Amino acid sequence: MTAIERVFSGVQPTGNLHLGNYLGAIVNFVKLQDSYNCIYCVVDLHAITTWQDPAELTRNIREVTAAFIACGIDPKTHIVFNQSQVAEHAELAWVFNCVARLGWLNRMTQFKEKAGKDRENASVGLYAYPNLMAADILVYRATHVPVGEDQKQHLELSRDIAQKFNNDFADSIKAHTLDPVFFPLPEPLITGPATRVMSLRDGTKKMSKSDPSDYSRINLNDDAEAIAQKVRKAKTDPEPLPSEEKGLEHRPEADNLVGIYAALSGRTKADLLSEFGGGQFSNFKNGLVDLAVEKLGPIGAEMKKLAADPAYVDSVLIDGSDRARVIAAETMSAVKDIVGFIHKK
Ligand code: AMP
Ligand code: TRP
Repeated sequence: MTAIERVFSGVQPTGNLHLGNYLGAIVNFVKLQDSYNCIYCVVDLHAITTWQDPAELTRNIREVTAAFIACGIDPKTHIVFNQSQVAEHAELAWVFNCVARLGWLNRMTQFKEKAGKDRENASVGLYAYPNLMAADILVYRATHVPVGEDQKQHLELSRDIAQKFNNDFADSIKAHTLDPVFFPLPEPLITGPATRVMSLRDGTKKMSKSDPSDYSRINLNDDAEAIAQKVRKAKTDPEPLPSEEKGLEHRPEADNLVGIYAALSGRTKADLLSEFGGGQFSNFKNGLVDLAVEKLGPIGAEMKKLAADPAYVDSVLIDGSDRARVIAAETMSAVKDIVGFIHKK
């Protein structure tokens, strides 16, 4: 096996794909297609770490796939598939359950947030979630992982797992493979216009699929009317917009809206403030509505078209998993040799 530069990333099919997913992750997925071999995964095994209604889960898997395609990911040149179709993810995750340390997982802030006060009642899967994420990436020996800011800690854990596996099995790796280092240490790509988009109702909270208020987020399939209403109702403060970036400090809602405008338009915050500074929010919000409708409208329309053709969407996932499985099986076979398992070759 030769180590090639490869991108892997995943999105959970848990409903309500929003502007944060788009600007923090999917926009970067699309860009990276020009310079890397990319694998983009709908992580349905991760989704069931919290209860999912089965019919809704099926719908959501198709919806994330449709969003990938509608945003410009090419499933022919690259690989798009759903995680549960490639059993090697779960298989390697088990090995990683035995490599990762309890102390490492105990530090994961996302588990603490998601499990909340009733930690005893959280699923074991929710706790072990980052080990499965490491397996997703490393089963393809991916080198680059585009994600939003909230996934930074999980990526660091993936690197720790790769490193510990490489160390623990160093002699066996030398005996069984040509590579002195088996797993690459995957590099997070936390870049792009908006790595952390905040809620439209509360500028101190992340925009999230699970926020009970639909007004907290702009969904990728919102129509023009919904986008307009959500932007107009977005929380602001009574002050006019500042003329310089420094003036956005301690004004989380204003900062977030200017950040979204900047990300969608490709302009800098400073440039926007030189235009809108000193004015009221209403004028700025009108501009933002027009821009968001212009950028997201065609994506929503394409997602709608794809929703009407589930057979096509499913065929993309089947084709993608067939191609993903070939790579994953190769890694898993080597892992079995390295760990010392007997298996058919
Ligand atoms: P998830 O919805 O948790 O499956 O996240 C899918 C991708 O979107 C991950 O790379 C996240 O880091 C990214 N993401 C989710 N929410 C946000 C947000 N509010 N701002 C920026 N990126 C986000
Ligand atoms: N944990 C990620 C999230 O909630 C989704 C994910 C699962 C992922 N496996 C991954 C992201 C592998 C990058 C690489 O957003």
